[in-house]
This record gives sequence, structure tokens and C-alpha cells, in this order.
Amino acid sequence: MPTYRVETPPHSYSAVVERGVAGRTAEYLPAQSKIFVVTTEDVWRHQGHTLEQGLAGRAHELLYLPGGEENKRLAPIEALAEQMTERGGDRSSLVVGFGGGIVNDMAGFLAAIFMRGIPVIQIPTTLLAQVDAAVGGKTGVNLVSGKNLIGSFHQPLAVLIDPAMLETLPEREYRAGLWEILKSGIIRDAALFHYLQRHRADVLARKPDAVDRIIADSVRIKAEVVSADEKEGGLRRILNFGHTFGHALEAETEYRRFLHGEAVAWGMRAAIYLGERSGHASAEQCVEMLDAIREYGPGPPLDGIAAGNLLARLVRDKKAVQGSVHFVLPVRIGEVTIVSGIPERTVLDAIQSALA
Ligand code: GLY
Repeated sequence: MPTYRVETPPHSYSAVVERGVAGRTAEYLPAQSKIFVVTTEDVWRHQGHTLEQGLAGRAHELLYLPGGEENKRLAPIEALAEQMTERGGDRSSLVVGFGGGIVNDMAGFLAAIFMRGIPVIQIPTTLLAQVDAAVGGKTGVNLVSGKNLIGSFHQPLAVLIDPAMLETLPEREYRAGLWEILKSGIIRDAALFHYLQRHRADVLARKPDAVDRIIADSVRIKAEVVSADEKEGGLRRILNFGHTFGHALEAETEYRRFLHGEAVAWGMRAAIYLGERSGHASAEQCVEMLDAIREYGPGPPLDGIAAGNLLARLVRDKKAVQGSVHFVLPVRIGEVTIVSGIPERTVLDAIQSALA
């Protein structure tokens, strides 16, 4: 199974995609560090035995986050930092982020700011975290006014991606991750997109060959993009395809109705409609992309959400630069472009079409 190198200015590291790798975590741990495993009680109950085995007897402290997008806030980070100092944490300590994307983002942020920065190893346990959140060093928490508005870039020492951990993942979480994989295909890899179209039954049945392939492709794409542009000055912005709209939807529903991948699925639909209406992509290609997103559904209902409220949130989103929202729009399957200056009326139309 493959290992991808993520080459960033702070350091280079491996994203290892391999069945069973979580059970060999000790091989990736520095010798002397005191280890703090950041997880949730739920993840630990279901998957903790795998990491216990992987730590191979290395002493470790368990730190629990509350879990849930609505709890991805600053207060739990402070509480965990207090616990770390009480339990002997110091500058030589190491954090292991063991959980889904929220845990990886928060564990990474805790590591980024504890004693001005200690290392983190990410072990993602959901599909979405394996293909996106755990790779690339984005860490942070939400504000009431928006998603991930406090955070920092803090690249991990390593990312251990074990597809075997997905066998017990709830169906809804699994589908949410599949939409992030579709995103990877749409933005950069037509072959991955067409594989997802043609092998949907195998993918949904979690056949190991299919699962391993689509995870490996997505991690390769993420590693390439982050290596080219760690801090999102240019190319990395393509990873936000569907996210600008999706974040608005999550915030508008107070982070309670949609999993992140579900919001991104809806956001991709809005971006595709916008791509077509603004003349960047052909109607035929857009229909193909919209069909693929729908076929991996359904997502939660969209009733009661006002298009105008989503538009207002977009304008406040952190990706608004000097008052102008930047959109990642499709050009064709496998290629996107970054566009600003689209009239609000056109954006509103696209939102309304995606809500319909
Ligand atoms: N999830 C988008 C990024 O890592 O840049």
C-alpha cells in the first residue's frame, strides 16, 4: 500500500495508506515523548483497542473531546491544555489525534498552541478525515460567526490512514466521506471521478479494493496540492470546491443538521450551478457532475433554509478578500478555476437551484 510524501516548508512527512497501520503506531512515535491521545469517548469505545495495540505498551494519557461540530470551539481546547499540564505535559510531549475530522482539527490545534507548539501524529478514523482533514496541517475551531475561523497551520509528524478502520463506520459518515472523494475527482482527477461513477456499487459495499483505491487517490491528490501550496496562497484553494457554500450551510443550520461532507455535497452542487451559469463549464459536464453527487446521496433535507441567508453568510466567509468572494468553479471534470466578481444575483440563482 502506498505512502505519499507531503513536502512543506516546516517539514516533510509521510501520509501512509495501509490496512493495519494504526495497529503499528509505535513505529512512528519518537522515542522519548510523553504521549497524549486526543479522542472522543465514542471513538475510543469503538476503536480504542486498535490504537492500544498500536501503541505496543508505550505509556499514554487519554484526553477526551466532547465531539460534534457544535462543540468544535475554543473552550474544550483550553480544558485539554489544562489537563495536559496537570498530567505532566511539557515541550517534549506529543499529541496523537485519534478520531474524525473534528478531532484531527482540534488535536492539531491543541498541539499547535500547547507550549507554543508540540508535534502531532494524526490517525483519522472516518473516511472524510482520512481523505482530507487529517492531511495538510489545517487545524482550528469554529466561531459562532463561522467555521474554522480560529486556527493555524501545524503540519503533523505523520498521518496514519488505516482503511480497515472504516468497516464499522456508520453509513451516513461513510457517504459523507465519499462526497469529499468525489470532490478530489472533480477538482483534479477525471479518472478518479469516472471510477466513482462506474464502481459505485463496490464503493458503497465497501469492497476493500475499491475503498483502498479511492482513498489512496485522494490522499495522493491532497499531498500533491499541499506540497505545492502549504498555506493556501494559490493552488490549495481548489480544495475548497463546495466548501464556501457548504460552510455557509453548516453555519446557517448551527452545525447541527449536516455532517461536513453532506454540506460539501450540497456546496458542490451550488458551485456547479454557478459554474454553468457564469459560463465556465458546459451544461453537459455539469449534469454529469450533479448526477454523480446525487447518486452518492441522499443527504439531509434542505427545507426551511433561506437562500438569501446563505448568500449573506458567504459574503462574511473568511474567504472573502477585500469584500469579494472567491469561488472555486468547475471548468470540466478534473479541472476547476478560481473566480471572483460574480454578480450576487447569479450567486443567489445558483443557491436557489441547489436548494430546490
Ligand atoms: N480541506 C481543505 C484543505 O485542507 O485545504
